[in-house]
Amino acid sequence: MDIRTHRIAAIPGDGIGIEVVAAGLEVLEALADRDGGFRFDVESFDWGTDRYRRTGAFMPEDGADRLRGFDAILFGAVGAPDVADHLTLWGLRLAICQPLDQYANVRPTRMLPGIRSPLRHVGESELDWVIVRENSEGEYAGQGGRSHPGLPLEVATDVSIFTRAGVERIMRFAFRLAQSRPRKLLTVVTKSNAQRHGMVLWDQIAGEVAREFPDVRWDKMLVDAMTVRMVQKPASLDTIVATNLHADILSDLAAALAGSIGVAPTANLNPERDTPSMFEPIHGSAFDITGRGIANPVATFWTAAMMLEHLGEAEAAGRLMTAVGRVTADEDLHTPDLGGRATTRQVTDALIAALRGRN
Ligand code: NAI
Ligand code: MG
Repeated sequence: MDIRTHRIAAIPGDGIGIEVVAAGLEVLEALADRDGGFRFDVESFDWGTDRYRRTGAFMPEDGADRLRGFDAILFGAVGAPDVADHLTLWGLRLAICQPLDQYANVRPTRMLPGIRSPLRHVGESELDWVIVRENSEGEYAGQGGRSHPGLPLEVATDVSIFTRAGVERIMRFAFRLAQSRPRKLLTVVTKSNAQRHGMVLWDQIAGEVAREFPDVRWDKMLVDAMTVRMVQKPASLDTIVATNLHADILSDLAAALAGSIGVAPTANLNPERDTPSMFEPIHGSAFDITGRGIANPVATFWTAAMMLEHLGEAEAAGRLMTAVGRVTADEDLHTPDLGGRATTRQVTDALIAALRGRN
């Protein structure tokens, strides 16, 4: 039998990123062992803040290029208490996403079995969203600067960039995704009352692209009102598309509403597959719990399932999510972020046991 080999670049990064990526790789190996149809060829990169302290750079100058030959990237988190967050983010995560043009950031949110929403009135079926975040331009395009440091006339600018090409491609991606889901429902989020250029272009392009998808129902929301709708009427939402900044914030809210940031996954996709896509839990390096063995690995397991899906291993992805659901359903296997006492080790062992139990 032909064994499919998937070449994975693992970049654990810092803090709990190292702990959860190790757990994720163990689970991927366990899946490959059982399935027999595929295997992983994993190369790990020690890029992150330690490297920055040693060499002055989070990754080698040709780092993004070195990743081009892989089928997918599994990323942990980057960030340390003693290094400014804008250096870590731009030095590693964005230094990969931008050159590899991973322009679609996809963030599914739903209630996993056994995990309760902080919203008292919300049941499992009422919160099932996918947030699509524009991941290449907008407020995080990196344009701007600072002049006259320390003087009274010191000035700092961050210029948002919205291009027709950039907005059209993310809008088309979002409509297509909405179309693939049972409810065929898309909400386009902007702030086109106050931001009267770029956001108005978003609204306009949404209307244009919508004509290509007559079977998708869609509506528009201002981002501030969107936070209220997410809390008060979660069942009225399905697929959501928003700018880099807005979706960054909305997806953290979404993760919290679904129980914990410790279970939320994301994919940074290059939908055309010209370059490898990158998969990561949405949380950061969480130095408040680093080294204590209590990081919730579920976000990384779900992330691994998204990666398998992207690699064409839908059956294995489904098996992994079923096992994740079995583990989260057992409150004894909840880590402290979910109000429990379980450790990363216990949750990982239970997950691997659940995978093996079904075979
Ligand atoms: P964070 O996500 O690291 O932590 C926020 C809170 O959630 C903390 O109380 C943490 O303990 C908890 N938490 C996060 N993930 C968890 C998990 N898997 N299990 C249990 N609890 C979990 O965000 P924070 O504290 O704002 O940032 C810490 C560092 O991480 C900063 O340097 C920041 O820049 C960086 N960061 C990196 C990201 C990335 O690499 N993609 C994303 C977000 C933050
Ligand atoms: Mg964020």
